[in-house]
Amino acid sequence: MIAVVDFGSQYTQLIARRFREIGVYSEIYSPNVKYSFLKEKEVKGIVLSGGPNSVYDSDLEIDYEIFKGDIPILGICFGFQFMAKFLGGEVRKGEKGEFGLTEIKIVRDSLLFEGLEKKEKVWMSHYDVVTKLPEDFVDIAISENGFLAAAQSLKKPFFAVQFHPEVSHTEKGRLIIENFAFKICKAEKNWNLDRFVEEKIEEIREQVGENKVLLAVSGGVDSTTLAVLLQRAIGDKLTAIFVDHGLLRIGEKEEVSRFLKDLGVNLVVIDARERFLEKLRGVIDPEEKRRVIGHEFVGVFKEEARKRGPFKFLAQGTLYPDVIESAASNTGMAAKIKTHHNVGGLPEELGFELIEPFRYLFKDEVRKIAEILGIPKDIIRRQPFPGPGLAVRILGEVTEDKLELLRRADRILMEEIKKWDKYDEIWQSFAVLLPIKTVGVKGDFRSYEYVIAIRIVKSEDGMTANFVEVPYDILGKIARRITNEIIGINRVVYDLTDKPPATIEWE
Ligand code: XMP
Repeated sequence: MIAVVDFGSQYTQLIARRFREIGVYSEIYSPNVKYSFLKEKEVKGIVLSGGPNSVYDSDLEIDYEIFKGDIPILGICFGFQFMAKFLGGEVRKGEKGEFGLTEIKIVRDSLLFEGLEKKEKVWMSHYDVVTKLPEDFVDIAISENGFLAAAQSLKKPFFAVQFHPEVSHTEKGRLIIENFAFKICKAEKNWNLDRFVEEKIEEIREQVGENKVLLAVSGGVDSTTLAVLLQRAIGDKLTAIFVDHGLLRIGEKEEVSRFLKDLGVNLVVIDARERFLEKLRGVIDPEEKRRVIGHEFVGVFKEEARKRGPFKFLAQGTLYPDVIESAASNTGMAAKIKTHHNVGGLPEELGFELIEPFRYLFKDEVRKIAEILGIPKDIIRRQPFPGPGLAVRILGEVTEDKLELLRRADRILMEEIKKWDKYDEIWQSFAVLLPIKTVGVKGDFRSYEYVIAIRIVKSEDGMTANFVEVPYDILGKIARRITNEIIGINRVVYDLTDKPPATIEWE
Protein backbone atom coordinates (compact mmCIF):
# COMPACT_ATOMS: atom_id res chain seq x y z
CA MET A 1 0.00 0.00 0.00
CA ILE A 2 1.03 3.58 -0.66
CA ALA A 3 0.10 6.13 2.02
CA VAL A 4 -0.70 9.63 0.83
CA VAL A 5 -0.23 12.19 3.59
CA ASP A 6 -2.73 14.98 3.00
CA PHE A 7 -1.44 18.50 3.42
CA GLY A 8 -4.71 19.88 2.05
CA SER A 9 -4.07 19.94 -1.70
CA GLN A 10 -7.04 19.87 -4.05
CA TYR A 11 -5.18 17.03 -5.81
CA THR A 12 -4.71 14.68 -2.83
CA GLN A 13 -7.50 12.33 -3.88
CA LEU A 14 -6.23 12.38 -7.41
CA ILE A 15 -2.80 11.20 -6.21
CA ALA A 16 -4.39 8.26 -4.42
CA ARG A 17 -6.48 7.42 -7.48
CA ARG A 18 -3.44 7.48 -9.75
CA PHE A 19 -1.77 4.74 -7.70
CA ARG A 20 -4.90 2.62 -7.77
CA GLU A 21 -5.14 3.09 -11.53
CA ILE A 22 -1.75 1.42 -11.89
CA GLY A 23 -2.86 -1.44 -9.64
CA VAL A 24 -1.38 -0.28 -6.33
CA TYR A 25 -3.70 0.19 -3.37
CA SER A 26 -3.43 3.58 -1.68
CA GLU A 27 -5.00 5.35 1.26
CA ILE A 28 -5.03 8.94 2.47
CA TYR A 29 -3.83 9.89 5.94
CA SER A 30 -3.75 13.09 7.94
CA PRO A 31 -0.33 14.62 8.70
CA ASN A 32 -0.44 13.37 12.29
CA VAL A 33 -0.18 9.72 11.22
CA LYS A 34 2.57 7.89 13.11
CA TYR A 35 5.50 6.20 11.41
CA SER A 36 5.01 3.12 13.60
CA PHE A 37 1.43 2.82 12.31
CA LEU A 38 2.56 3.00 8.68
CA LYS A 39 5.23 0.39 9.40
CA GLU A 40 2.67 -1.89 10.99
CA LYS A 41 0.45 -1.54 7.93
CA GLU A 42 3.42 -2.55 5.79
CA VAL A 43 3.18 0.64 3.78
CA LYS A 44 5.56 0.47 0.82
CA GLY A 45 5.81 4.18 0.10
CA ILE A 46 4.75 7.56 1.43
CA VAL A 47 3.64 10.52 -0.66
CA LEU A 48 3.62 13.98 0.90
CA SER A 49 0.92 15.87 -0.97
CA GLY A 50 0.77 19.46 -2.09
CA GLY A 51 -1.07 22.01 0.01
CA PRO A 52 -2.55 25.48 -0.15
CA ASN A 53 -0.16 27.10 2.31
CA SER A 54 3.38 28.37 2.29
CA VAL A 55 5.70 26.39 4.57
CA TYR A 56 6.18 29.69 6.39
CA ASP A 57 2.50 30.23 7.13
CA SER A 58 1.82 26.66 8.09
CA ASP A 59 2.24 25.02 11.46
CA LEU A 60 1.88 21.54 10.01
CA GLU A 61 4.03 18.91 11.67
CA ILE A 62 4.61 15.32 10.83
CA ASP A 63 6.16 12.45 12.75
CA TYR A 64 9.92 12.95 12.46
CA GLU A 65 10.40 9.18 12.47
CA ILE A 66 9.09 9.19 8.90
CA PHE A 67 12.34 10.82 7.81
CA LYS A 68 14.48 8.62 10.03
CA GLY A 69 12.95 5.46 8.65
CA ASP A 70 13.45 3.54 5.45
CA ILE A 71 10.05 3.75 3.75
CA PRO A 72 10.51 5.56 0.41
CA ILE A 73 9.06 9.07 0.24
CA LEU A 74 7.87 11.20 -2.65
CA GLY A 75 7.23 14.87 -1.84
CA ILE A 76 5.00 16.73 -4.29
CA CYS A 77 4.92 20.55 -4.52
CA PHE A 78 4.26 21.71 -0.94
CA GLY A 79 5.40 18.19 0.07
CA PHE A 80 8.75 18.95 -1.56
CA GLN A 81 9.07 22.30 0.20
CA PHE A 82 8.00 20.84 3.51
CA MET A 83 10.54 18.06 3.24
CA ALA A 84 13.30 20.47 2.18
CA LYS A 85 12.66 22.80 5.08
CA PHE A 86 12.16 19.99 7.59
CA LEU A 87 15.47 18.38 6.67
CA GLY A 88 17.53 21.56 6.80
CA GLY A 89 17.19 23.06 3.33
CA GLU A 90 15.78 26.47 2.46
CA VAL A 91 12.57 27.63 0.84
CA ARG A 92 12.11 31.14 -0.45
CA LYS A 93 8.74 32.82 -0.43
CA GLY A 94 7.97 33.25 -4.10
CA GLU A 95 7.02 36.45 -5.80
CA LYS A 96 6.23 35.07 -9.21
CA GLY A 97 6.13 31.32 -8.95
CA GLU A 98 5.27 29.00 -11.85
CA PHE A 99 1.81 28.06 -13.04
CA GLY A 100 0.60 25.79 -15.80
CA LEU A 101 2.57 23.87 -18.39
CA THR A 102 6.30 24.28 -17.84
CA GLU A 103 9.32 22.61 -19.39
CA ILE A 104 11.82 20.90 -17.14
CA LYS A 105 15.32 19.69 -17.96
CA ILE A 106 16.50 16.50 -16.35
CA VAL A 107 20.05 17.05 -15.13
CA ARG A 108 20.88 13.71 -13.49
CA ASP A 109 19.92 10.07 -13.89
CA SER A 110 17.29 9.04 -11.38
CA LEU A 111 15.12 5.97 -10.90
CA LEU A 112 12.17 8.33 -10.58
CA PHE A 113 12.60 9.62 -14.11
CA GLU A 114 13.59 6.40 -15.90
CA GLY A 115 12.09 6.35 -19.38
CA LEU A 116 11.70 10.14 -19.59
CA GLU A 117 13.34 12.35 -22.22
CA LYS A 118 15.90 14.97 -21.23
CA LYS A 119 13.21 17.63 -21.53
CA GLU A 120 9.61 17.13 -20.46
CA LYS A 121 6.45 19.18 -20.08
CA VAL A 122 5.00 19.20 -16.57
CA TRP A 123 2.20 20.97 -14.66
CA MET A 124 3.38 23.52 -12.10
CA SER A 125 1.36 25.41 -9.52
CA HIS A 126 3.51 27.14 -6.89
CA TYR A 127 4.71 30.47 -5.57
CA ASP A 128 7.42 29.32 -3.13
CA VAL A 129 10.61 27.70 -4.36
CA VAL A 130 13.23 25.46 -2.77
CA THR A 131 16.49 27.43 -2.89
CA LYS A 132 18.77 25.12 -0.93
CA LEU A 133 18.50 21.36 -0.69
CA PRO A 134 19.05 19.46 2.54
CA GLU A 135 22.39 17.74 2.99
CA ASP A 136 22.73 14.53 0.97
CA PHE A 137 20.16 15.74 -1.57
CA VAL A 138 20.95 16.53 -5.20
CA ASP A 139 18.92 18.18 -7.91
CA ILE A 140 17.59 15.94 -10.67
CA ALA A 141 15.60 18.45 -12.71
CA ILE A 142 15.52 22.22 -13.25
CA SER A 143 12.60 24.17 -14.67
CA GLU A 144 12.80 26.46 -17.71
CA ASN A 145 12.62 29.36 -15.25
CA GLY A 146 15.72 28.15 -13.46
CA PHE A 147 13.95 26.79 -10.35
CA LEU A 148 14.57 23.43 -8.73
CA ALA A 149 12.01 21.07 -10.23
CA ALA A 150 13.02 17.75 -8.65
CA ALA A 151 15.53 16.33 -6.21
CA GLN A 152 16.51 13.15 -4.44
CA SER A 153 18.53 12.00 -1.48
CA LEU A 154 21.75 10.14 -2.14
CA LYS A 155 21.44 8.18 1.09
CA LYS A 156 17.78 7.29 1.36
CA PRO A 157 14.97 6.51 -1.07
CA PHE A 158 13.58 10.04 -0.69
CA PHE A 159 12.44 11.90 -3.81
CA ALA A 160 10.67 15.17 -4.42
CA VAL A 161 9.13 17.04 -7.32
CA GLN A 162 7.96 20.64 -7.47
CA PHE A 163 5.44 19.83 -10.21
CA HIS A 164 2.32 17.65 -10.14
CA PRO A 165 2.82 14.19 -11.68
CA GLU A 166 -0.77 13.27 -10.73
CA VAL A 167 -2.30 15.89 -13.03
CA SER A 168 -2.99 14.66 -16.56
CA HIS A 169 -1.26 17.69 -18.12
CA THR A 170 2.08 16.32 -16.89
CA GLU A 171 2.70 14.19 -19.95
CA LYS A 172 4.82 11.49 -18.30
CA GLY A 173 3.07 11.75 -14.94
CA ARG A 174 1.85 8.18 -15.03
CA LEU A 175 5.33 6.86 -15.75
CA ILE A 176 6.74 8.84 -12.81
CA ILE A 177 4.05 7.40 -10.53
CA GLU A 178 4.86 3.90 -11.85
CA ASN A 179 8.58 4.42 -11.32
CA PHE A 180 7.99 5.49 -7.76
CA ALA A 181 5.58 2.63 -7.02
CA PHE A 182 7.37 -0.24 -8.71
CA LYS A 183 11.05 0.70 -9.09
CA ILE A 184 11.50 2.62 -5.87
CA CYS A 185 8.87 1.25 -3.46
CA LYS A 186 8.76 -2.26 -4.98
CA ALA A 187 5.01 -2.16 -4.44
CA GLU A 188 2.99 -5.07 -5.70
CA LYS A 189 0.48 -4.66 -8.48
CA ASN A 190 -2.33 -6.37 -6.63
CA TRP A 191 -5.20 -3.90 -6.54
CA ASN A 192 -7.75 -5.58 -8.72
CA LEU A 193 -11.46 -4.84 -8.70
CA ASP A 194 -12.56 -8.26 -9.99
CA ARG A 195 -10.94 -9.81 -6.99
CA PHE A 196 -12.32 -7.07 -4.73
CA VAL A 197 -15.85 -8.02 -5.81
CA GLU A 198 -15.32 -11.71 -5.11
CA GLU A 199 -13.72 -11.05 -1.75
CA LYS A 200 -16.43 -8.60 -0.70
CA ILE A 201 -19.17 -11.05 -1.59
CA GLU A 202 -17.55 -13.68 0.63
CA GLU A 203 -16.93 -11.20 3.41
CA ILE A 204 -20.52 -9.90 3.40
CA ARG A 205 -21.92 -13.43 3.37
CA GLU A 206 -19.89 -14.30 6.43
CA GLN A 207 -20.67 -11.08 8.26
CA VAL A 208 -24.42 -11.27 7.65
CA GLY A 209 -24.95 -14.95 8.39
CA GLU A 210 -28.68 -15.58 8.77
CA ASN A 211 -29.54 -11.95 9.55
CA LYS A 212 -31.38 -9.42 7.42
CA VAL A 213 -29.96 -6.33 5.70
CA LEU A 214 -31.73 -3.11 4.83
CA LEU A 215 -30.64 -0.77 2.05
CA ALA A 216 -32.00 2.52 0.72
CA VAL A 217 -31.66 2.80 -3.06
CA SER A 218 -31.85 6.16 -4.74
CA GLY A 219 -31.48 5.37 -8.42
CA GLY A 220 -27.87 6.52 -8.46
CA VAL A 221 -24.97 4.33 -9.46
CA ASP A 222 -23.62 3.76 -5.93
CA SER A 223 -26.74 2.40 -4.28
CA THR A 224 -27.74 0.47 -7.41
CA THR A 225 -24.34 -1.21 -7.56
CA LEU A 226 -24.51 -1.93 -3.86
CA ALA A 227 -27.94 -3.52 -4.27
CA VAL A 228 -26.62 -5.84 -6.98
CA LEU A 229 -23.52 -6.74 -4.98
CA LEU A 230 -25.61 -7.54 -1.90
CA GLN A 231 -28.10 -9.54 -3.93
CA ARG A 232 -25.20 -11.68 -5.20
CA ALA A 233 -23.90 -12.10 -1.67
CA ILE A 234 -27.01 -12.69 0.39
CA GLY A 235 -30.01 -12.93 -1.98
CA ASP A 236 -33.32 -12.48 -0.21
CA LYS A 237 -31.79 -11.53 3.10
CA LEU A 238 -31.54 -8.10 1.50
CA THR A 239 -34.49 -5.70 1.49
CA ALA A 240 -33.90 -2.67 -0.70
CA ILE A 241 -36.20 0.29 -0.21
CA PHE A 242 -36.76 2.97 -2.81
CA VAL A 243 -38.57 5.96 -1.35
CA ASP A 244 -40.32 7.83 -4.14
CA HIS A 245 -40.48 11.34 -2.74
CA GLY A 246 -41.91 12.68 -5.99
CA LEU A 247 -38.86 14.84 -6.60
CA LEU A 248 -37.26 12.59 -9.22
CA ARG A 249 -36.57 13.09 -12.90
CA ILE A 250 -38.92 11.49 -15.40
CA GLY A 251 -38.41 7.77 -15.81
CA GLU A 252 -35.63 7.25 -13.23
CA LYS A 253 -37.67 5.34 -10.69
CA GLU A 254 -39.17 3.11 -13.36
CA GLU A 255 -35.83 2.33 -15.00
CA VAL A 256 -34.00 1.44 -11.82
CA SER A 257 -36.79 -0.50 -10.20
CA ARG A 258 -37.36 -2.55 -13.35
CA PHE A 259 -33.68 -3.35 -13.57
CA LEU A 260 -33.30 -4.32 -9.91
CA LYS A 261 -36.45 -6.41 -9.86
CA ASP A 262 -35.40 -8.25 -13.01
CA LEU A 263 -32.16 -9.12 -11.29
CA GLY A 264 -34.07 -10.61 -8.41
CA VAL A 265 -33.39 -7.87 -5.87
CA ASN A 266 -36.02 -7.84 -3.17
CA LEU A 267 -37.08 -4.24 -3.84
CA VAL A 268 -39.87 -2.31 -2.16
CA VAL A 269 -40.95 0.97 -3.77
CA ILE A 270 -42.69 3.29 -1.34
CA ASP A 271 -44.93 5.93 -2.82
CA ALA A 272 -44.44 8.86 -0.45
CA ARG A 273 -45.03 11.60 -2.99
CA GLU A 274 -47.99 13.26 -1.29
CA ARG A 275 -46.38 13.10 2.09
CA PHE A 276 -43.27 14.98 0.94
CA LEU A 277 -45.21 17.57 -1.02
CA GLU A 278 -47.40 18.22 1.97
CA LYS A 279 -44.39 18.79 4.20
CA LEU A 280 -42.78 21.07 1.63
CA ARG A 281 -45.79 23.33 1.37
CA GLY A 282 -44.79 26.93 2.09
CA VAL A 283 -41.10 26.06 2.53
CA ILE A 284 -38.86 28.50 0.68
CA ASP A 285 -35.51 28.48 2.42
CA PRO A 286 -33.05 26.01 0.78
CA GLU A 287 -31.61 24.71 4.05
CA GLU A 288 -35.10 24.26 5.44
CA LYS A 289 -36.09 22.27 2.33
CA ARG A 290 -33.13 19.96 2.83
CA ARG A 291 -33.96 19.56 6.50
CA VAL A 292 -37.62 18.77 5.82
CA ILE A 293 -36.78 16.25 3.11
CA GLY A 294 -34.04 14.60 5.18
CA HIS A 295 -36.33 14.36 8.18
CA GLU A 296 -39.25 12.98 6.21
CA PHE A 297 -36.99 10.48 4.51
CA VAL A 298 -35.78 9.14 7.83
CA GLY A 299 -39.40 8.93 9.00
CA VAL A 300 -40.56 6.89 6.00
CA PHE A 301 -37.51 4.70 6.15
CA LYS A 302 -37.95 4.01 9.86
CA GLU A 303 -41.58 3.01 9.42
CA GLU A 304 -40.66 0.57 6.68
CA ALA A 305 -37.76 -0.82 8.68
CA ARG A 306 -40.09 -1.50 11.59
CA LYS A 307 -42.72 -3.08 9.39
CA ARG A 308 -40.35 -5.34 7.51
CA GLY A 309 -37.67 -6.03 10.11
CA PRO A 310 -36.01 -6.86 12.29
CA PHE A 311 -32.88 -5.89 10.44
CA LYS A 312 -29.51 -6.29 12.03
CA PHE A 313 -27.62 -4.44 9.32
CA LEU A 314 -27.96 -1.28 7.28
CA ALA A 315 -25.95 -1.16 4.05
CA GLN A 316 -24.76 2.19 2.77
CA GLY A 317 -22.96 3.21 -0.41
CA THR A 318 -20.55 5.52 1.43
CA LEU A 319 -17.52 6.33 -0.74
CA TYR A 320 -13.97 7.15 0.24
CA PRO A 321 -14.26 10.88 -0.55
CA ASP A 322 -17.22 11.10 1.90
CA VAL A 323 -15.07 9.45 4.54
CA ILE A 324 -12.17 11.82 3.89
CA GLU A 325 -14.40 14.89 3.76
CA SER A 326 -16.26 14.11 6.93
CA ALA A 327 -12.89 13.58 8.64
CA ALA A 328 -11.78 16.94 7.25
CA SER A 329 -14.91 18.71 8.45
CA ASN A 330 -14.63 17.08 11.87
CA THR A 331 -11.20 18.60 12.23
CA GLY A 332 -12.51 21.94 10.99
CA MET A 333 -10.53 21.77 7.75
CA ALA A 334 -13.59 22.08 5.51
CA ALA A 335 -16.26 24.76 5.68
CA LYS A 336 -19.89 23.75 5.52
CA ILE A 337 -21.52 25.05 2.36
CA LYS A 338 -24.70 22.97 2.18
CA THR A 339 -26.23 20.28 4.28
CA HIS A 340 -26.09 17.33 1.90
CA HIS A 341 -28.85 14.96 2.60
CA ASN A 342 -28.00 11.30 2.67
CA VAL A 343 -29.07 8.55 5.03
CA GLY A 344 -26.38 9.45 7.55
CA GLY A 345 -27.84 9.50 11.03
CA LEU A 346 -29.99 6.45 10.43
CA PRO A 347 -27.72 3.86 12.01
CA GLU A 348 -27.51 5.73 15.32
CA GLU A 349 -31.25 6.20 15.50
CA LEU A 350 -32.13 2.64 14.67
CA GLY A 351 -29.26 0.80 16.24
CA PHE A 352 -28.13 -0.85 13.01
CA GLU A 353 -24.71 -2.22 12.36
CA LEU A 354 -23.30 -0.78 9.17
CA ILE A 355 -22.17 -2.52 6.01
CA GLU A 356 -20.21 -0.14 3.79
CA PRO A 357 -18.36 -2.15 1.17
CA PHE A 358 -17.37 0.95 -0.84
CA ARG A 359 -15.94 2.88 2.09
CA TYR A 360 -12.46 2.83 0.59
CA LEU A 361 -13.44 3.23 -3.04
CA PHE A 362 -13.48 6.19 -5.38
CA LYS A 363 -16.43 6.84 -7.65
CA ASP A 364 -14.66 5.63 -10.80
CA GLU A 365 -13.91 2.35 -9.01
CA VAL A 366 -17.58 1.88 -8.13
CA ARG A 367 -18.38 2.45 -11.80
CA LYS A 368 -15.92 -0.30 -12.72
CA ILE A 369 -17.52 -2.62 -10.19
CA ALA A 370 -20.90 -1.80 -11.72
CA GLU A 371 -19.46 -2.89 -15.07
CA ILE A 372 -18.07 -6.09 -13.56
CA LEU A 373 -21.54 -6.83 -12.14
CA GLY A 374 -23.14 -6.28 -15.56
CA ILE A 375 -25.12 -3.12 -14.75
CA PRO A 376 -26.28 -1.37 -17.95
CA LYS A 377 -24.23 1.57 -19.24
CA ASP A 378 -27.18 3.98 -18.89
CA ILE A 379 -27.27 3.45 -15.17
CA ILE A 380 -23.49 3.45 -14.73
CA ARG A 381 -23.07 6.72 -16.60
CA ARG A 382 -26.00 8.36 -14.88
CA GLN A 383 -25.22 11.86 -13.68
CA PRO A 384 -25.12 12.58 -9.95
CA PHE A 385 -28.52 13.63 -8.65
CA PRO A 386 -28.97 15.41 -5.32
CA GLY A 387 -30.80 13.59 -2.53
CA PRO A 388 -33.42 16.37 -2.21
CA GLY A 389 -33.93 16.01 -5.96
CA LEU A 390 -35.88 18.54 -7.97
CA ALA A 391 -36.84 20.39 -4.79
CA VAL A 392 -33.49 22.21 -4.88
CA ARG A 393 -33.97 22.96 -8.58
CA ILE A 394 -37.27 24.74 -8.02
CA LEU A 395 -36.32 28.00 -6.38
CA GLY A 396 -38.91 28.99 -3.86
CA GLU A 397 -41.90 26.86 -2.96
CA VAL A 398 -42.22 23.38 -4.46
CA THR A 399 -45.64 22.59 -5.90
CA GLU A 400 -46.91 19.78 -8.10
CA ASP A 401 -47.47 22.24 -10.98
CA LYS A 402 -43.92 23.52 -10.79
CA LEU A 403 -42.56 19.99 -10.54
CA GLU A 404 -44.42 19.14 -13.72
CA LEU A 405 -43.00 22.18 -15.56
CA LEU A 406 -39.49 21.38 -14.42
CA ARG A 407 -39.71 17.68 -15.25
CA ARG A 408 -40.81 18.43 -18.77
CA ALA A 409 -38.12 21.05 -19.34
CA ASP A 410 -35.54 18.72 -17.86
CA ARG A 411 -36.59 15.89 -20.16
CA ILE A 412 -36.24 18.08 -23.25
CA LEU A 413 -32.80 19.20 -22.10
CA MET A 414 -31.73 15.58 -21.54
CA GLU A 415 -33.04 14.42 -24.91
CA GLU A 416 -31.17 17.13 -26.78
CA ILE A 417 -27.91 17.13 -24.85
CA LYS A 418 -27.60 13.35 -25.11
CA LYS A 419 -27.36 13.73 -28.87
CA TRP A 420 -24.23 15.85 -28.51
CA ASP A 421 -21.04 13.89 -29.25
CA LYS A 422 -19.39 15.38 -26.16
CA TYR A 423 -22.16 14.27 -23.80
CA ASP A 424 -19.82 11.85 -22.02
CA GLU A 425 -17.61 14.74 -20.89
CA ILE A 426 -20.47 16.34 -18.97
CA TRP A 427 -20.67 15.93 -15.18
CA GLN A 428 -24.22 17.23 -14.83
CA SER A 429 -26.79 18.84 -17.10
CA PHE A 430 -30.13 19.95 -15.73
CA ALA A 431 -32.86 22.56 -15.74
CA VAL A 432 -33.74 24.91 -12.88
CA LEU A 433 -37.12 26.60 -12.51
CA LEU A 434 -36.76 30.20 -11.40
CA PRO A 435 -39.35 31.85 -9.15
CA ILE A 436 -39.94 34.74 -11.52
CA LYS A 437 -42.17 35.36 -14.49
CA THR A 438 -41.19 37.46 -17.46
CA VAL A 439 -43.11 38.95 -20.34
CA GLY A 440 -43.01 37.26 -23.71
CA VAL A 441 -44.99 36.89 -26.87
CA LYS A 442 -46.37 33.55 -27.99
CA GLY A 443 -48.31 33.64 -31.25
CA ASP A 444 -50.01 37.00 -31.25
CA PHE A 445 -50.47 37.13 -27.53
CA ARG A 446 -48.58 38.56 -24.63
CA SER A 447 -47.43 35.87 -22.25
CA TYR A 448 -46.32 36.16 -18.66
CA GLU A 449 -44.60 32.93 -17.74
CA TYR A 450 -41.74 31.29 -15.84
CA VAL A 451 -38.03 31.19 -16.72
CA ILE A 452 -35.92 28.05 -16.98
CA ALA A 453 -32.18 28.24 -16.34
CA ILE A 454 -29.99 25.57 -17.92
CA ARG A 455 -26.94 24.38 -15.99
CA ILE A 456 -24.35 22.19 -17.74
CA VAL A 457 -21.03 21.63 -16.01
CA LYS A 458 -17.81 19.65 -16.25
CA SER A 459 -16.20 18.44 -13.05
CA GLU A 460 -13.80 15.80 -11.69
CA ASP A 461 -15.52 15.26 -8.38
CA GLY A 462 -18.18 17.94 -7.85
CA MET A 463 -15.91 19.98 -5.59
CA THR A 464 -15.08 22.44 -8.36
CA ALA A 465 -16.78 22.76 -11.73
CA ASN A 466 -16.72 24.73 -14.96
CA PHE A 467 -19.66 25.60 -17.15
CA VAL A 468 -19.54 23.75 -20.47
CA GLU A 469 -19.20 25.63 -23.75
CA VAL A 470 -22.13 23.93 -25.41
CA PRO A 471 -22.55 25.00 -29.06
CA TYR A 472 -25.21 27.65 -29.59
CA ASP A 473 -27.19 25.53 -32.01
CA ILE A 474 -27.75 22.91 -29.31
CA LEU A 475 -28.61 25.50 -26.66
CA GLY A 476 -30.87 27.25 -29.14
CA LYS A 477 -32.72 24.05 -29.93
CA ILE A 478 -33.20 23.30 -26.24
CA ALA A 479 -34.56 26.80 -25.64
CA ARG A 480 -36.89 26.63 -28.64
CA ARG A 481 -38.25 23.25 -27.69
CA ILE A 482 -38.81 24.19 -24.05
CA THR A 483 -40.64 27.41 -24.87
CA ASN A 484 -42.64 25.86 -27.71
CA GLU A 485 -43.63 22.64 -26.02
CA ILE A 486 -44.32 23.80 -22.49
CA ILE A 487 -47.12 26.18 -21.68
CA GLY A 488 -45.97 28.15 -18.68
CA ILE A 489 -42.38 28.81 -19.76
CA ASN A 490 -41.49 31.60 -22.15
CA ARG A 491 -37.79 32.19 -21.51
CA VAL A 492 -34.64 30.07 -21.17
CA VAL A 493 -31.27 31.31 -19.91
CA TYR A 494 -27.88 29.59 -19.71
CA ASP A 495 -25.78 29.66 -16.52
CA LEU A 496 -22.20 30.76 -17.28
CA THR A 497 -20.84 30.47 -13.74
CA ASP A 498 -18.10 28.18 -12.51
CA LYS A 499 -17.89 26.60 -9.06
CA PRO A 500 -16.57 28.48 -7.15
CA PRO A 501 -18.03 31.07 -6.85
CA ALA A 502 -21.40 29.44 -7.60
CA THR A 503 -22.29 25.94 -6.49
CA ILE A 504 -23.47 23.38 -9.02
CA GLU A 505 -27.04 23.27 -7.77
CA TRP A 506 -28.85 26.58 -7.45
CA GLU A 507 -29.93 25.85 -3.88
P1 XMP B 1 -23.09 21.71 -5.05
O1 XMP B 1 -24.43 22.26 -5.42
O2 XMP B 1 -22.83 21.71 -3.58
O3 XMP B 1 -23.12 20.20 -5.49
O4 XMP B 1 -21.99 22.35 -5.84
C1 XMP B 1 -22.02 19.35 -5.59
C2 XMP B 1 -22.53 17.99 -6.03
O5 XMP B 1 -23.35 17.43 -5.01
C3 XMP B 1 -24.67 17.22 -5.48
N1 XMP B 1 -25.56 17.59 -4.37
C4 XMP B 1 -26.10 16.72 -3.51
N2 XMP B 1 -25.99 15.38 -3.41
N3 XMP B 1 -27.42 15.39 -1.56
C5 XMP B 1 -26.68 14.72 -2.44
O6 XMP B 1 -26.61 13.50 -2.36
C6 XMP B 1 -27.58 16.72 -1.58
O7 XMP B 1 -28.27 17.30 -0.75
C7 XMP B 1 -26.87 17.43 -2.61
N4 XMP B 1 -26.77 18.75 -2.94
C8 XMP B 1 -25.95 18.81 -4.03
C9 XMP B 1 -24.81 18.10 -6.70
O8 XMP B 1 -25.80 17.59 -7.59
C10 XMP B 1 -23.42 18.06 -7.27
O9 XMP B 1 -23.17 16.87 -8.00
